[in-house]
Amino acid sequence: MRKQIAAANWKMNLTLAQGEELMNEIVQANINMEKNQEAIFAVPFPYLITNKSITDKAKNFITAAQNCASENSGAYTGEVSCQMLQSINIKYVLIGHSERREYYNETNQVLVKKINQALQNNLKPIFCCGEPLLVRQAETQNAHIEMQLQESLFHLSTEQIKDFVIAYEPIWAIGTGLTASSAQAQNMHAHIRNVLANKYGQEIANSVSILYGGSVKAANAVEIFSQPDVDGGLVGGASLVANEFVEIIKSLKK
Ligand code: 13P
Repeated sequence: MRKQIAAANWKMNLTLAQGEELMNEIVQANINMEKNQEAIFAVPFPYLITNKSITDKAKNFITAAQNCASENSGAYTGEVSCQMLQSINIKYVLIGHSERREYYNETNQVLVKKINQALQNNLKPIFCCGEPLLVRQAETQNAHIEMQLQESLFHLSTEQIKDFVIAYEPIWAIGTGLTASSAQAQNMHAHIRNVLANKYGQEIANSVSILYGGSVKAANAVEIFSQPDVDGGLVGGASLVANEFVEIIKSLKK
């Protein structure tokens, strides 16, 4: 069975001490992780090394970066490259979060470069896609997502897309308390899998983990994650609260 993933995205929150306290509480819950399950923690860059020392001790807990540079090295003040992330043994990186697209002008074309950087440096991208409210209201979300996938992922080979991780995060559901209904999530996830199947074949499409993001919390995780094409979640606000995120991890399909 493809991987089921609960991914925390701390965004620009928490001090180092607060982050450590949160991690320790989550680890102490001693969640029984199945072989196909992972709990991923996308933390701010300065916390990667200390966070990794905590996740390394817990089965199937993994530390991830929230972003990476589109270039490999050189005069890019303030940027963090995939080569650097690889050098501290980071395995996953979020790419194309809607906040990066919106506030830092990351286009589908820039994301191609980031994805290539990640793959060249043995990092697994968690590729984020999602439509704004106006697109959803116009009922053109399927075409919008298909375009994001086509423009940022379709240059990849079948081998590269196998076991890929995609997060579908409708922008209108991020941090708003509005969640896509489980039916809306399932419909879009099935659409994403179908788009991948048309390009890469059904078997490869079935290997891709598709996470849902947007106001996931302990109270709605079981229902959303139980949908057949939903393979877990990418969680913002609720990942900052230990018992909430523990319950979310426990809501993953086995
Ligand atoms: P919230 O869970 O706070 O809605 O954020 C979702 C998100 O953007 C995760 O990347």
